[in-house]
Amino acid sequence: MNTTSLDLAGRRALVTGASRGLGRHIAILLAQHGARVALHCRAVEHPARLIADHLPGKGHAVVTADLADLDQAAALPGRAAAALGGLDILVNNAGIYERMPAAGEDLVRWRDLWERTIAVNLTAPALISAAAVPLLAERQGYIVNVSSRGAFRGEPEAPAYGASKSGLNALGQSMAVALARRGIKVITVAPAWVETDMTRDYLASPEGDQIRAQFPGGQVVDPDDLAWTVLLAVSGRADALTGAVIDLNSASYLR
Ligand SMILES: NC(=O)c1ccc[n+]([C@@H]2O[C@H](COP(=O)([O-])OP(=O)(O)OC[C@H]3O[C@@H](n4cnc5c(N)ncnc54)[C@H](OP(=O)(O)O)[C@@H]3O)[C@@H](O)[C@H]2O)c1
Repeated sequence: MNTTSLDLAGRRALVTGASRGLGRHIAILLAQHGARVALHCRAVEHPARLIADHLPGKGHAVVTADLADLDQAAALPGRAAAALGGLDILVNNAGIYERMPAAGEDLVRWRDLWERTIAVNLTAPALISAAAVPLLAERQGYIVNVSSRGAFRGEPEAPAYGASKSGLNALGQSMAVALARRGIKVITVAPAWVETDMTRDYLASPEGDQIRAQFPGGQVVDPDDLAWTVLLAVSGRADALTGAVIDLNSASYLR
């Protein structure tokens, strides 16, 4: 056994939301360690295709699905497995953050944002996971869910987001128990602020200093820290992580 490196040679991974942000970092790192990766994006293939074309190794794929459409979500693992010739690793990373009207104001918009956020951030990963289970290689299968610090700290301006991520934590823990006998591991990672398209405007605004002040070290989370944690989780070197919800928040919130 190679004791010095994390080796995913021969493993096939679907990473949702891999066209940019954290999903892009995760997809690149998994490919750098030998995995063949299906990069998922919503509708416009070009950015994900550009990333796929520059990944090391061969046989990577791009798959589109709007996760607000739950039929498209459920079909995604089958399409990724068809493109890769099987599936060993699922990373449920795609997600949206939408500020909502204050409770009691504009109930129509509040409900619309609630339903859309729960669909994309919780129902879609649940369906994708359920659809992936029969495909995931027995004893080698991994599901990693990308949650958020907001599941614990609260999201007063985006309660649907906080609720969706709390639900994702509970989903991952339940599935870890349910799938343990089949050898499928389920791990959840819960980052705090990372600079991506989702957060760039907030971090660049006057609010940015208040956000950075939440971090004792003065800096938000490095996207590579998240990607390396996902890599370790699916590497076969730390399978006792199954069922865990791993904080990646640079001591900005202790629970
Ligand atoms: N950034 C942070 O500070 C932070 C903190 C905690 C947790 N997270 C979580 O980390 C994950 C990744 O966040 P990020 O910051 O990398 O976000 P991002 O830069 O905004 O990227 C979002 C990704 O999700 C995809 N996506 C969004 N809506 C979709 C839909 N309806 N159907 C299919 N795909 C969709 C996007 O695809 P397209 O490019 O095709 O639109 C994109 O690839 C999310 O689950 C987020 O909640 C992020």
